[in-house]
Amino acid sequence: MYSNQQIQALQKITKDFIESPHNIDLAALSNVLKFHEYQYYVMSNPLIADYEYDLLYQQLIALETASPHLISKDSPSQRVGNSLNNQFQTIPHLVPMLSLENSYNAEDLNDFDRKAREGAMLDEITYCVEPKFDGASISLVYENDLLVRGCTRGDGVAGEEITQNIKQIKSIPLSIPLSAYGIQQIEIRGEVIMSKKSFHDFNEKLQLKKMATLANPRNAASGSLRMKDPKEVAERNLDAFIYHISFYTLKGSATTPELLKTHSGSLELLWNMGFRSPQKEKKVHSNIEGVIQFCNDFETERDKLPYEIDGLVIKVNDFALQEKLGMTSHHPRWAIAYKFKARQATTILENVEFQVGRTGAVTPVAKLKAVAIGGVTVSSISMHNEEYIREKDLRLGDTVIIERAGDVIPQIVQSIPTLRKGTETVIEFPTSCPVCNYTLEKEETEAVWRCNNPLCSAQVVERLIHFVSKDAMDIKSFGDANIRKLYELGLLKNIPQIYQLDFSVIGTLEGFGKKSIDNLQAAIEASKSQPLYRLIYALGIRFVGETTAKTIAANIHHVLDLENLTEDQLQGFEDVGIKVAKSIYQYFHEAKNIALLKELESLGLNMIQTNTTAVDGNLSGLNFLFTGTLMQLKRSEAESMVEGRGGHILSGVSSKLNYLVVGEDAGSKLEKAKKIASIKIITEADFVELIKN
Ligand code: IVH
Repeated sequence: MYSNQQIQALQKITKDFIESPHNIDLAALSNVLKFHEYQYYVMSNPLIADYEYDLLYQQLIALETASPHLISKDSPSQRVGNSLNNQFQTIPHLVPMLSLENSYNAEDLNDFDRKAREGAMLDEITYCVEPKFDGASISLVYENDLLVRGCTRGDGVAGEEITQNIKQIKSIPLSIPLSAYGIQQIEIRGEVIMSKKSFHDFNEKLQLKKMATLANPRNAASGSLRMKDPKEVAERNLDAFIYHISFYTLKGSATTPELLKTHSGSLELLWNMGFRSPQKEKKVHSNIEGVIQFCNDFETERDKLPYEIDGLVIKVNDFALQEKLGMTSHHPRWAIAYKFKARQATTILENVEFQVGRTGAVTPVAKLKAVAIGGVTVSSISMHNEEYIREKDLRLGDTVIIERAGDVIPQIVQSIPTLRKGTETVIEFPTSCPVCNYTLEKEETEAVWRCNNPLCSAQVVERLIHFVSKDAMDIKSFGDANIRKLYELGLLKNIPQIYQLDFSVIGTLEGFGKKSIDNLQAAIEASKSQPLYRLIYALGIRFVGETTAKTIAANIHHVLDLENLTEDQLQGFEDVGIKVAKSIYQYFHEAKNIALLKELESLGLNMIQTNTTAVDGNLSGLNFLFTGTLMQLKRSEAESMVEGRGGHILSGVSSKLNYLVVGEDAGSKLEKAKKIASIKIITEADFVELIKN
């Protein structure tokens, strides 16, 4: 529909408008917004961040309000129709799917409340607040208890019929007890989402197949709904929250069910019918002050949820009042979205640095023109490996969309090739180590380039940092910066030197006062008696994480026992597979590693497995595993509770497992555990009860 030339011109205007939103021609703005709507809704390929779109849309509304005579019939604010991707049949909704007005702060919410109170002629209004799910909206029609149709939102008036795909979403029931409530036909609305975990798992699968990964759960959900093959939809583990009843007809002499008098009641009814409505997440407030407080407080809850939300939706609770307030041509007057701070932004990819990690892996790190997202300034983002750069076709000088997802680690979603000026350059991956110049190598099965020089200074420093880190030897007063400084000064070049530092020299350095030296000395001393698994983990053996380190420690007496174990014997340990066994074997068959351990022993470090099973608690001898997202406890907290009561944490499902504690969005571990009858599968609440006894 748009030529490349037009796309470039429109993108240039977009950028100008975002930079100076106060000097805009209404007709041009309306064209720009139409273009971005087309990109978003029809092409599923947004070219600007959502908040940038919102900013421009609000500017359009402001200009149109100031000069109503200039409103064109086809302004995005007057939307009635749009061409749709004609892969699926287009079907009109029974009631048009309106969108919501956005609010960003207390002032906007007070404004909304004031207008609603004026319209209702009331002093106070009761509101129901629920999450604004960040997915793809759908409408469903049920008749005579059966699901007969599922549609995308489309242009709001008509959507694409995707019933077969909808039926793949297990949280959408194929039949519901409508007749029990005297209802003949019902049209409901909701949001299809992909949980953070499913998104992560699915991207991992794509990566393994060497296919392009998906940018975020929202794009993943909307893309999935339009897959041609319903089987592929099923594989993507989608979920749906249903939050709105848009239309219903009653049977014969039936009367309106009592629950259908308020929005919170309707969520309860939907819940009772078997839908995943935000029944537990919703909160009713008797006035706007409560709502504002809740909105402020909820922003910090956002990251704890197992799925993405981009705000909250505030709805007048009483349906009669909703009716009275009615709607404008595009928004209901009885609801408003409260949007959290933007988590997407566009910026420039200015440079790339190549960092060498502890294992020699070389990671490209994008250096960006600093930009704020969701209250955090981002100027540097990992680009993982060379394939990632090639897949996304990232070039130096590119304008890129970046996003801070729920797990807080920022990522580059995509570059915007249409904004290229011709001066952008392809990112060259180095062939030799940027630190020690050693030739980089890549194993066939791996995506990363590695520097295999064990003396590479970058690796030595990273290994030292890992050795003292919190989960390893936990030498608290040793920050990353201090390690780098001591290394550069030649005072700390290898792990044994941590235990031979010359404090009279360090005391003369800037930033090392008497107190910090005392603390450092005490922390180093205390680390000598850390349990064996911490030392094993601290060594930084490839593929040996904390859990594997614990397993290894539990199976040996002295760390050097590992010198005498074969790969087969190592594989006999719980959850140690071929790859891990090989890595441990190799580590303990290198003379320099054995020499390192002997030296550490002579410096007084504990090398022996002390009996940790001596804890006598109510979980003594029982094996636990946690899966999915816990809602009340942190995973590490829950695990410590088990260990503190004499129980063990296993790293995988096996017949040795006694309890699998299942949080939200549990995946393959749960499926596996269901097949082993002796495993008790319990919820987080059951777990909390269990440890009380
Ligand atoms: S109510 C007439 N509730 O946000 C009421 N919408 O800009 C229509 N959304 O198109 C919507 N979570 O896709 C409502 N709890 C929620 C929602 C929600 C997400 C989406 C929906 C809608 C858009 C509004």
